[in-house]
Amino acid sequence: MPYVLGVDVGTTRTAAAVCRLGGAGRGEPELVGLGGPGGGVASTLQLTADGAFLVGEPGDPRWTATGFGRRVGDVVPIVLGPDAGGAEHCPPEELTALLVRWVADQVAAREGEPPAHVVLAHPPGWGAHAKGLVHRALRSVGVEASLVPEPVAAAENHAFSRSFAGSLGVFSLGSHAFGASVVGRGFELVNTVEGVDQAAGVDFDDAVFGHVRTSLGRALAELDADDPRTRGLFGRLRRDCEAAKRVLSGAVETSIPVHLPSGPVDVPITRAQFEDLIRPDVEQAVSVFERVVAGAGTGGVEMTVLVGGSTRIPLVAASVPGRVVLEAAPETSVVKGAALAARRLVIGPDAEPEPIETSVMVRDDDPLLRFPVGGMEVPDAEFTAPPPRPPVDITPLDLPERRTVKRVVRGLVPTGGRRARDSEDGR
Ligand SMILES: Nc1ncnc2c1ncn2[C@@H]1O[C@H](COP(=O)(O)OP(=O)(O)OP(=O)(O)O)[C@@H](O)[C@H]1O
Ligand SMILES: [Mg+2]
Repeated sequence: MPYVLGVDVGTTRTAAAVCRLGGAGRGEPELVGLGGPGGGVASTLQLTADGAFLVGEPGDPRWTATGFGRRVGDVVPIVLGPDAGGAEHCPPEELTALLVRWVADQVAAREGEPPAHVVLAHPPGWGAHAKGLVHRALRSVGVEASLVPEPVAAAENHAFSRSFAGSLGVFSLGSHAFGASVVGRGFELVNTVEGVDQAAGVDFDDAVFGHVRTSLGRALAELDADDPRTRGLFGRLRRDCEAAKRVLSGAVETSIPVHLPSGPVDVPITRAQFEDLIRPDVEQAVSVFERVVAGAGTGGVEMTVLVGGSTRIPLVAASVPGRVVLEAAPETSVVKGAALAARRLVIGPDAEPEPIETSVMVRDDDPLLRFPVGGMEVPDAEFTAPPPRPPVDITPLDLPERRTVKRVVRGLVPTGGRRARDSEDGR
């Protein structure tokens, strides 16, 4: 059955969702498993000795590209491979495009046909330059795509299940980036601030790590940093700190295992301790969000959608003012919205289904009503009219004629790197 594809290349995780274009359903976005964490795939490309890339399998940091999705527009390329003159210089947009190509190929293999259209969600701060770079890079790997800002995708996803008559706040907290945006009822980005300077998920991991350091004191501080076993211990400890942080979103206490040479120890941590550690960061993010809402000139927002894995932290949801909507898996809101935006682009706004009320969690200002599941009333007639849906803020790609995967990309190879230039030169 024909389908469209949404892709979200996050700093740590890339996710895909499809919407079917035929059949009986309403075209609900469906997440596509990519074989990695949380159903997606790690946003890493490891260059191999034969010049291809392994997706989602980080290896030697000198050969593995990470974080490129948020470096698009950066003039400094990501240098991968051997030191002595043989390194590949990979522009971030080309790595992003290759990853999107890989995702599209995975999904096409599963679905038995390529997607009718692809929408890539992008950081809201991208201007014409960054978008142009990605357009060109996508075109060079044969991907037929449009671009949508992440908060607009989040609004698309929200509007699929719930109407909104005014403006929507989007509070986004992922692994590395924080974003605060206001999206109008016509899906236009009214105001936005986005960046990696604000604390996000990895900084919260660091906070847990700091707690372990403080708790163990000299037992950890006196380990020989040059000993490979110490490096292994710290790598594992970092992963365990991240896991403990996630556990604390659902439990009030947990412990972090530390595999000291003298024997394993467990360091306990409570949710209250964790919240104390991250509270200043969360308060700062909330104050940025409030400034963005005030600067939007919309007289506030009707409600605020929380997106990104770090909004699962209860303190975050409790700190955002006003009416708050948190999906069960907020790290998937953007990719589902990208798939919905692709569907809208293909079938047109007139064929849009009426929103249904689904299983999002809604927090009202009444403290007694905190986090009831579902059940947000739609009180007046205003809500019944679906918002107007001009194709604002979705940048269509001026597409080349469609080509087959085999002719365009025989393997995942760096398109702008040394090998491509060599072959252009006939070398
Ligand atoms: N249950 C949870 N509680 C707290 N944090 C969580 C939970 N689940 C995931 N996270 C955190 O969410 C972050 C990943 O979120 P997400 O997938 O939205 O990020 P991303 O899109 O890869 O990155 P970014 O949007 O910052 O570029 C990680 O820091 C992860 O530790
Ligand atoms: Mg993200």
